[in-house]
Amino acid sequence: MGTYAISGSASGIGAATRATLETAGHSVIGIDLRDAEVIGDLSTDEGRAGAVSETLERCGGTLDGLVTAAGLGPPLRGNIIARVNYFGSLALLEGLRPALAAAEAAQVVQVGSNSSTTSPNLPPELIEAFLAGDEEKAVGIVESVPEPFDGAIGYGSAKLAISRWCRRAAVTDDWVGQGITLNVIAPGPVQTPLFQQGKDDADFGPLMENFPIPTGEPATPQLIADWIVFMLSPAARFACGSVIFVDGGADAMIRSDAWPDTFTM
Ligand code: NAI
Repeated sequence: MGTYAISGSASGIGAATRATLETAGHSVIGIDLRDAEVIGDLSTDEGRAGAVSETLERCGGTLDGLVTAAGLGPPLRGNIIARVNYFGSLALLEGLRPALAAAEAAQVVQVGSNSSTTSPNLPPELIEAFLAGDEEKAVGIVESVPEPFDGAIGYGSAKLAISRWCRRAAVTDDWVGQGITLNVIAPGPVQTPLFQQGKDDADFGPLMENFPIPTGEPATPQLIADWIVFMLSPAARFACGSVIFVDGGADAMIRSDAWPDTFTM
């Protein structure tokens, strides 16, 4: 049985993943603002450093897997979304990498979103600032977007950047070279408190109401947790740098021909 760290373990997708792993007999170290083994605020340097060091201490230096599920969404402001969803996740990925490398074959699932490909007009300079690790520049760009759109731009851009980071990092010596596979799950609408907060908002509610879900209804957190647990299992070991859309068909509907694509030599 393995030991897994899960950020955002107190609610929604993270909580369902935690329960599913524990039912299967695994140990989970939850990281969250509340109701977790490790209490830490992933929006700050101090909170991130504390969460990393306490998780390393609790796992005894070895982790079989990590799920980065902590996140915020619109209608919250884009600056806090950028800090938590991108830089908070990245701090855990980088800080916990030595413990993942110490396991025989660790697997990481980053929780992305289909907002990464279905949100229009995400600024390329913002994606670049994320990938350059320049937190204050990224936050500055998000803050220059007029409210309430800063939340949607910050959210979609952070999810696009963290997915692209995965594809770049997964195949390097630091990750697959250490026996660690990195993959992203990109859910569509999932019935959680984060989703409900958006639906209840006067600006975002109507947009979310009209967002396509070709299969019908939003997913349950359990459905996404089952995918994540599969992505942590030996059967998923050949996936490396994959971004798996589990979104009821929205990405396929909105971006049918965007990918897969060929390239010119
Ligand atoms: P949720 O609101 O149920 O859970 C998010 C968890 O993250 C909460 O327990 C919260 O306390 C924690 N968190 C927030 N800020 C934090 C901080 N500063 N430090 C530490 N922990 C913090 O939301 P949900 O929907 O389960 O979200 C999980 C992930 O799934 C997020 O990354 C979200 O972007 C992603 N996602 C959600 C979708 C949805 O429709 N619900 C769709 C696609 C992706």
